[in-house]
Amino acid sequence: MKFFVDTAETKDIHELAATGLLDGVTTNPTLIAKSGRKILDVIAEICAIVPGPVSAEVAATDYENILREAKVLRRIATNVTIKVPLTPDGLRACKYLSSDGAMVNVTLCFSAAQALLAAKAGATFISPFVGRLDDVGQDGMKLIKEICDIYRQYPAFKTEVLVASVRNPIHIVESAKMGAHVATLPPSVMKQLAQHPLTDKGLAAFLADWQKTGQKIVA
Ligand code: E4P
Repeated sequence: MKFFVDTAETKDIHELAATGLLDGVTTNPTLIAKSGRKILDVIAEICAIVPGPVSAEVAATDYENILREAKVLRRIATNVTIKVPLTPDGLRACKYLSSDGAMVNVTLCFSAAQALLAAKAGATFISPFVGRLDDVGQDGMKLIKEICDIYRQYPAFKTEVLVASVRNPIHIVESAKMGAHVATLPPSVMKQLAQHPLTDKGLAAFLADWQKTGQKIVA
């Protein structure tokens, strides 16, 4: 399973990239606004830190203007992935851009029917938002299972399931069991994945016992 980080904060991206476990980055207009920076600058900086796919979302909603914005974003770096909304115009733009060799992430997916259309439009990634479904009392994980099951029936579909709007490590573990290809995580959830109280307790005990021996591995 590939891990992307869902942020436009380059300090967090640097830190996570240094672990060697980061495969890509996703951003959206809200995250860009939160960074307080210009989209072209921040995406260029992220692309220089992470060689994997970096999603930059268009702000236009009509086909012609989506393509105009995509042209500008694609010029930033070869690893820019154009993020388009799951709307008829977004799907049309996805079809055009993917045929033209661009990586495309179709975002704001909330149903299996929408995911089916994105795959037909040649999306590189489909982004189902699990947390936002859970927030309105629906089952985000059920949607991931449905999409993974459907895509498996059609080996010709090359679209990867990118689990988005992740709120906790359980979303990740459950998505991995279903075979989702990618998850995009807020930095806090990425850090949570490595944590377990028994790891901390066990390490503290090992270190205390080691100190009693008075030994050093490196002199
Ligand atoms: C995905 O690409 C989106 O940027 C993101 O996961 C949305 O998450 P949120 O529901 O926490 O805003």
